[in-house]
Amino acid sequence: MMKNISIALDGPAGAGKSTIAKIIANIKNLTYIDTGAMYRAIAFKILERGIHIEEEKKIQEILSRCKIDMDENDIFLDGKNITEDIRSPKVNNFVSHIAKIPHVRMKMVELQRNIASNKHVIMDGRDIGTYVMPNATYKFYLTASIEERATRRFTELKEKGIEITQKEVKDEIGNRDKIDMEREFAPLRKAEDAIEIDTTGKSIQKVVDEILYYLK
Ligand code: DC
Repeated sequence: MMKNISIALDGPAGAGKSTIAKIIANIKNLTYIDTGAMYRAIAFKILERGIHIEEEKKIQEILSRCKIDMDENDIFLDGKNITEDIRSPKVNNFVSHIAKIPHVRMKMVELQRNIASNKHVIMDGRDIGTYVMPNATYKFYLTASIEERATRRFTELKEKGIEITQKEVKDEIGNRDKIDMEREFAPLRKAEDAIEIDTTGKSIQKVVDEILYYLK
């Protein structure tokens, strides 16, 4: 039987991972898995319940009971579509703190590996090439300057009508990267065998073409 194709796409916030992953998924007929959305879903639920980050038991309970479903475009938590809710500034500022907790990560990784089994996938996140799919067929690490990443996110949020300044976006991204890179369990870093692509100043098409070149 032919081996499933798996593509790991990691990198810091706002590097363009999800935009690129969706396009590659369409072109190559792969299932796209947005692992950040899963951490965001848990963070959203914890916030909604007013649970404190140190209330381990309550977080465990949420983890053992919650049901996360995803399709191409949407994410559902316990049957409710929360696609928009997980992109709020509140969730942005909270999610990295939740993603530091080892038992949260273990549960997410288990779900991610389950979704990916027996499928051709492209999965984006922070620890995909290093931890979730260490044997991925292809690994990419996308970066861009903090200025450019902040500008991209700022434009996206503005379009959605979210009131925020460019400086706030830059600070939020910088803080999130720092927490994601410095955590003990499966931190954000480039896998040794990943191909690094700096997307600063490049169009989406250019980055897609670069990736397609390697997939040949
Ligand atoms: O990709 P994103 O910005 O939606 O991810 C939100 C947060 O979730 C990110 O700041 C850290 C966490 N995350 C993680 O720890 N591991 C992943 N594989 C994906 C996301």
